Amino acid sequence: MTDRPNVRPADGRLGVLLPGFGAVASTFVAGVEAARRGLAQPIGSLTQMNTIRLGKRTEGRSPLIRDFVPLAGLDDLVFGAWDPIPDDGYDSAVKAGVLDRHHLDPMEDFLRSVKPMPAVFDTEYVRRLDGPNVKKGASRWDLAEQLRDDIRRFGEENGCDRMVMIWCGSTEVFLRPGPAHETLAAFEAALKADDPSIAPSMIYAYAAIMEGVPYANGAPNLSADFPALEDAARERGVPIGGKDFKTGQTLMKTILAPGLKARMLGIDGWFSTNILGNRDGAVLDDPDSFKTKEESKLGVLEHILQPEMYPELYGKLYHKVRINYYPPRGDNKEGWDNIDITGWMGYGMQIKVDFLCRDSILAAPIVLDLALFLDLAQRAGMSGIQEWLSFYFKSPQTVPGLYPEHDLFIQHRKLKNTLRWIGGEEPITHLGLDYDEGE
Ligand SMILES: NC(=O)c1ccc[n+]([C@@H]2O[C@H](COP(=O)([O-])OP(=O)(O)OC[C@H]3O[C@@H](n4cnc5c(N)ncnc54)[C@H](O)[C@@H]3O)[C@@H](O)[C@H]2O)c1
Repeated sequence: MTDRPNVRPADGRLGVLLPGFGAVASTFVAGVEAARRGLAQPIGSLTQMNTIRLGKRTEGRSPLIRDFVPLAGLDDLVFGAWDPIPDDGYDSAVKAGVLDRHHLDPMEDFLRSVKPMPAVFDTEYVRRLDGPNVKKGASRWDLAEQLRDDIRRFGEENGCDRMVMIWCGSTEVFLRPGPAHETLAAFEAALKADDPSIAPSMIYAYAAIMEGVPYANGAPNLSADFPALEDAARERGVPIGGKDFKTGQTLMKTILAPGLKARMLGIDGWFSTNILGNRDGAVLDDPDSFKTKEESKLGVLEHILQPEMYPELYGKLYHKVRINYYPPRGDNKEGWDNIDITGWMGYGMQIKVDFLCRDSILAAPIVLDLALFLDLAQRAGMSGIQEWLSFYFKSPQTVPGLYPEHDLFIQHRKLKNTLRWIGGEEPITHLGLDYDEGE
């Protein structure tokens, strides 16, 4: 194991920059403010509520994570955003319809103070939306320069000691990495040539990394998931992570599938369908945006179940994911899963899950944890892809040559062992043999 890192303290203010100021981002900002005022609990956030066991079970040491490693405090966070739709935090939250007015109205002044900066936005990449709050520029390079100016200005005006950026923007159309994404030089040449293979989210990721700002991608589009930006992040000491917040149906999938596999039960089919009626649902109604999401959702089971190692249990698995836009539901999505499993001697059984879920309520604590953990990682000298944050993502980015780990429980152990390592404690293996020796 490498030596314990020397972690710089979390002094001063942390700017949290949010490209995309819709349902998730406004719910996140409102929830942090509510927690600061003691009006609500930050439920779902490991950085705020979870403890971490240190040493043996007999030692009785289980501090809160935030008391064990130096994290920015909620009072030290300041928020910035970009969105083509010019709604401030209050209007955005009211339109999103996630939080009730009795929560929003007492915080109206604060929420109105967060106004989105003009976005780098192009309807070619998100076809079902448009808005007037958009930057103009001669080329993608020019737009990247404008974003870098925004980041620097935001930091100065708000007295930030450090910043992080979390993409909470819409899912862009499906793109594969090409030659422009191979090296930083090729990427910068493509920015200057205004190459359409560079989507807006990539320009934000580039601007963040070049400004030394850690970046996480909460949507499934490529954004920073290609060699040019991965290498740039690693070389510049910038932690990055992605992709696609693990909420709702995929969270359930990565809870259930590892359990069924642990018992060596077979799975023949997993049919997942969703109805949702928020702005995200409208964007995903475009087949090209849906394809980006579908790829992200489909990979999960294959990696957890390893059909190549267990062909008799999972070799014939039929996995289907559907998302249907259904406006009456708003942000309160309903996700159905039908799982056909097989047991002893091949006898079939069925599991039905009907999750009446609130997507942004599940996503908001992920935004908070990613912001605080990416900032911690940077102060600990960690850079490039942060695999220990896979816990939060539907399609975790990995260093080249490694397959992603999707099993929520393995991801959770990895996250906590990484925190133990950062804090100078031994990892916990759960071997436990030495308890018998009276230690
Ligand atoms: N809600 C969840 O649980 C969840 C889970 C996983 C992933 N996601 C992803 O997170 C993202 C946000 O979800 P949401 O429910 O808040 O959606 P939303 O539609 O309410 O908000 C997205 C916002 O991004 C803005 N936007 C689009 N392109 C932009 C750009 N180039 N620059 C700046 N802003 C831009 C849109 O105008 C919109 O206001 C989506 O991509 C979604 O797929 C959400």
